Amino acid sequence: MTTVATIADLREALAPARSRGDSVGLVPTMGAFHAGHRSLFRAAREECDTVVVSLFVNPAQFEAGSDLAGYPHDPGADAVFAEAAGIELLFTPDAAELYPPGYQTWVEVEELGRRLEGEHRPGHFRGVATVCLKLFNLVRPARAYFGQKDAQQVAVLRRMIRDLDLDLELELRVLPTVRDHDGLAFSSRNAQLTAAERERALALPRALATRDLDSARARLAGLDVDYVEVVDLDPPVLAAAVRVGSTRLIDNVVLDKEKP
Ligand code: PAF
Repeated sequence: MTTVATIADLREALAPARSRGDSVGLVPTMGAFHAGHRSLFRAAREECDTVVVSLFVNPAQFEAGSDLAGYPHDPGADAVFAEAAGIELLFTPDAAELYPPGYQTWVEVEELGRRLEGEHRPGHFRGVATVCLKLFNLVRPARAYFGQKDAQQVAVLRRMIRDLDLDLELELRVLPTVRDHDGLAFSSRNAQLTAAERERALALPRALATRDLDSARARLAGLDVDYVEVVDLDPPVLAAAVRVGSTRLIDNVVLDKEKP
């Protein structure tokens, strides 16, 4: 696996793939890899000739004074994980290069980006949309891979692609949420839960598994709930965000019974 940290080195590393006319897949990540990432890596490898995984803990999508400092970060372990998963190219840019002094250009998906996650994490989707647009421009992928767990993020990015007339060849691939043996959706934040908190957090997947808003609300009654709502995305989901101790968890289930 080749690891590149600068935009110049990324372009150089991608040049042979471009001259061969390879289809390039991009898996944008913030690291702390787990089984959910492995499923994105696998799909990208199966569907694309060349795969780039970006690993960048994007400060722009965290609120000032929020949990950026506590976000799990172990680039050495992530490199080992990515290589074992067959990734050939890992892009680990610095914030100083993606947001150099004087940086002032942002992408805001207005209405969709202010609901749900956007309401509880103001500015979050502005940071996500901006960094994803930059990554799409740098890598120019045929396909970019995301998890269904971040359903609103996918909707925001789809809207951005449409609104900004990005390359119609760019396909967003959305892979089903991967769950641990106890039902908790894999998330980089799960590592922050104590054993007792994890036990309490299980109310979240259990509530959503009812696929019924009132039952889900009732099952989440003891937790600190940011929202639980039926959301008219494509496909529609029952989505919730809860805080367990200092950890904030999101999850959703697709309401179309055909889908997992
Ligand atoms: O889902 C994530 O890990 C992040 O929001 C993303 C898409 C890598 C952008 O920083």
